[in-house]
Amino acid sequence: MDLHEWDAWAFETQAVRAGQLRSNEGEQSEPIFPTSSFRFNSAAQAAARFSGNEPGNIYSRFTNPTVRTFEQRLAALEGGERCVATSSGMAAILSTCIGLLKSGDHIVSSRSIFGSTVVLFDNFMAKFGVSTSYVPLTDLDAWRAAIRPDTRLLFVETPSNPLTEVADIAALAELAHAHGCLLAVDNCFCTPALQQPLKLGADIAIHSATKYIDGQGRCIGGAVVGRGGGGGGGGRGVGRSPGPAPGPVYSLGFP
Ligand SMILES: Cc1ncc(COP(=O)(O)O)c(C=O)c1O
Repeated sequence: MDLHEWDAWAFETQAVRAGQLRSNEGEQSEPIFPTSSFRFNSAAQAAARFSGNEPGNIYSRFTNPTVRTFEQRLAALEGGERCVATSSGMAAILSTCIGLLKSGDHIVSSRSIFGSTVVLFDNFMAKFGVSTSYVPLTDLDAWRAAIRPDTRLLFVETPSNPLTEVADIAALAELAHAHGCLLAVDNCFCTPALQQPLKLGADIAIHSATKYIDGQGRCIGGAVVGRGGGGGGGGRGVGRSPGPAPGPVYSLGFP
């Protein structure tokens, strides 16, 4: 797990300073990098960047410093190892699914989830051979009974939209892990200020940053935060090639 100086800071300090970039200009606020791509000092450097032999920015669908600030800040607030920002909350849920699942896999999901998530599971993931069973959010026996040998992911939104039903995240995490599954929690309603699913045992926290993370109705965005130890799986690769990456200017709205 990467260690950061802000890991030891209070939540309130992390919320305004974790991952902050500083240029040599002494600015107080976050610098913005509204650029699609990055220049190289030489063709050799470009080759080294593209081959992965030299770290650094190439193209903003892959990485962008403004987006990275948001990712590092949210990872710190959630107590996660890594965060991948996406262009919307739905892009975050899609990225989680295509990063972790393959044809033949099965999801057990709470019945109380955002409508577009149901459409994603039933109309799109199903088309690629991933099936979903729905259970009442608070009925742990129903979750247990719905798990099959091909189940890979338990998905819960808590509190749920719009019924605000509340799940026992720790109990669901225990159940998931006992069956070799991962638990993903859509933490959109609470934000890490009120609920930190990873600290309760969940493997993945998902956000529609469009809501309270932005808090001012200006931006569409999302994020997937992983606990580390392999739990988060695949998000960066999904961002780089399938491309649900956010733009840097919107990302500036979140920190
Ligand atoms: C709980 C929840 N998850 C996901 C989403 C989707 O987020 P977005 O609109 O940013 O794609 C929403 C949107 O309302 C939501 O309420």
